[in-house]
Amino acid sequence: MLTSHLERLGLVCPSCRAYGRPAPRLVRGTMIQIDATPAGEDLIEGVLVCPACMREHPILDGVVVAVANIASWAEHQGDAVLRRHDLSPITESMLGDALGRGGSFDKERHDLSTYGQAHWGDRAERDPLPAAGRMADLVATATATLPAPPAGVWLDAGCSVGRGALELAAAGAELVVGVDLNMAMLRRAEQARRTGVATWPRRRVGQVFDPGRATCDDLPRDRVAFVCADLGVLPFEDASFAGALSLNVLDCVPSPVGHLGELGRVVADAGAVLMSTPYDWATNASAMEQWLGGHSQRGDHRGASEPELRRLLSADFAAGIDTGLTIAAERDDVPWLLTLNARSTMHYRLHLLRLARTPRG
Ligand SMILES: C[S@@+](CC[C@H](N)C(=O)[O-])C[C@H]1O[C@@H](n2cnc3c(N)ncnc32)[C@H](O)[C@@H]1O
Ligand SMILES: [Zn+2]
Repeated sequence: MLTSHLERLGLVCPSCRAYGRPAPRLVRGTMIQIDATPAGEDLIEGVLVCPACMREHPILDGVVVAVANIASWAEHQGDAVLRRHDLSPITESMLGDALGRGGSFDKERHDLSTYGQAHWGDRAERDPLPAAGRMADLVATATATLPAPPAGVWLDAGCSVGRGALELAAAGAELVVGVDLNMAMLRRAEQARRTGVATWPRRRVGQVFDPGRATCDDLPRDRVAFVCADLGVLPFEDASFAGALSLNVLDCVPSPVGHLGELGRVVADAGAVLMSTPYDWATNASAMEQWLGGHSQRGDHRGASEPELRRLLSADFAAGIDTGLTIAAERDDVPWLLTLNARSTMHYRLHLLRLARTPRG
């Protein structure tokens, strides 16, 4: 995280926000590693502090961790933070076989493979995947719905391994902050930002993975930053962003309505939210009561999700939920491809929407 980006983003204390107190901006505490780069000071490891509640928020491998409850974060993300990256591919593969299926290393490797392929597979140095339906293609389709190219500071909500943030910056955004909770993915995103080389494991078959590598030096790496935060409690002030990207996240969060509300909160008046979703609801992500459609097929919409989302975002929706967002444009059947292994690719059809932030009263 560049010092200039940290200052520009003005991160606020997520702990104060979560507990309903006024949330002050985080200030620099002890810095352990700072790299000097042509773009300025790059904060690699250190601490940010809340001047009100005094909670400490770490910077790890260049990623600012701004979560309300650091103990709960450590329980779920500690393994990824402590994972070593100095083992040879042979030793790592041998240990992967020994550890077998289902553990945290296995899950991390599978997820990194799936999202690494989706984000960087089209640029892979060896055996590149077709670009159609991968992340750069999806960002291009999403930004094409805007009346003008993106400008100002944007948020990439649920950024995963970071290609979307870089593509959004390449499309014109002045600065893009990618936010995710998954430290394994964020460390890869941050590595690509800092070095200009993206790496990821590519699953061939079973527990067999090949190293994936792609260069991204041609993308505007000096205009992206990555933050580990919960999309439900974003560490940003109201109206901080000119726009936000939320690709394939709506069905992955505990509260889809809460996610839309947070996006509406942080986007400035007349700003845009570019959102896509396959409505692939699952109870391990959100309880069924939280889904938009996907249940109650005896009702008016026969369980369909699209009319539920449209109802929620319509200006005259009378259920007391105001996300501050309305639909400005829609596209359906947008392809999204997730490659699981060398012989298997999941092909989703996305519902893509451009939402407009209604002016605050
Ligand atoms: C299906 S993936 C989509 C990733 C990326 N936008 C894409 O389209 O390739 C969903 C992402 O949302 C992240 N995510 C899920 N719940 C989150 C939360 N509450 N806060 C932050 N990120 C979250 C996951 O870690 C994951 O990277
Ligand atoms: Zn605080």
